[in-house]
Amino acid sequence: MSVVGLDSGVLGEALKSVQREVDSVFDAFMPVPSDTRARLVEAMRYAAIGGGKRVRPLLLVSTAEMYGVDRDAAVQAGTAIEAIHVYSLIHDDLPCMDDDDLRHGKATVHKVYDDATAVLAGDALHALAFDILADSGTSSDPFVRSELIGTLGSASGMNGMAGGQMMDIVADEEGVDYDLHTITRLQQLKTGALLAASVEMGAILGKVPPEGRAHLRAYSRDIGLAFQIADDLLDVEGDQEKAGKALRKDDEQGKQTFVTLMGVDKAREQARALVDQAVAHLGSHGSEADTLRALARFIVERDR
Ligand code: IPE
Ligand code: IPE
Ligand code: MG
Ligand code: MG
Ligand code: MG
Repeated sequence: MSVVGLDSGVLGEALKSVQREVDSVFDAFMPVPSDTRARLVEAMRYAAIGGGKRVRPLLLVSTAEMYGVDRDAAVQAGTAIEAIHVYSLIHDDLPCMDDDDLRHGKATVHKVYDDATAVLAGDALHALAFDILADSGTSSDPFVRSELIGTLGSASGMNGMAGGQMMDIVADEEGVDYDLHTITRLQQLKTGALLAASVEMGAILGKVPPEGRAHLRAYSRDIGLAFQIADDLLDVEGDQEKAGKALRKDDEQGKQTFVTLMGVDKAREQARALVDQAVAHLGSHGSEADTLRALARFIVERDR
């Protein structure tokens, strides 16, 4: 089985199915209105539908599957995480942040529309995520829905993605010099938090009690860090055509990453060690955890 290929192998097929399913949930939740809000919803659809690997939804669905959760419910919850992820990318690409023109192989939202529309499309996708989680199609149990909402909220805000993005932006200010500990924290917030929430939300849907989630949390912590190291390695070594976004920008923009701190080889070594550690945390599971194992490998060996 090819565990790293995106276009083939068991994992490739699993990603393709989730990509189709997430697109269809997005389509259902974002009908274009026939008034002047149309531009907003068109921009949301442009960013959300038909792009991205959908790693977060697949993490959620694969975890949920281990605990017998209904597939449609898991896909819907996965689409909520993806709405947050897509919003974070729209804002990340804005001129006031990373200033990027290319995402998922096409022009970024603010290039096709304008900055104001891109800000609003991000805002509205952020809100949509919680709308989707509050929908009874995500779970018929209001306690489960409420825990999902709290988990995604924490992972998205000041103690999660937005907090990490702030640390990332401050990193290029003069006199700011992060050590390894601080970069680890930055990456865990910026990228790790949403990946960890994906696994956690799968477990919540599966009604796994918090004390039964420790090994899953350990797994997510490791893959979260490895995922951002892989993204930073791709920035240095990747093929822009495959990545679908501009590369060789982190150094120029003064980003501080594992790669800038320890170099390409050590960073790759670190990412691989993290993945081995992540897989080891799944030792109590049998073949039902094979997709999570394959995803962990894919996360560091991926070419996009
Ligand atoms: C890119 O995430 C941004 C990071 C958090 C590193 P992905 O690599 O998951 O983005 P897409 O959606 O698949 O393009
Ligand atoms: C972005 O990290 C992480 C987010 C929370 C959006 P990067 O800025 O490195 O992501 P890319 O390389 O633009 O996808
Ligand atoms: Mg960024
Ligand atoms: Mg960026
Ligand atoms: Mg990057």
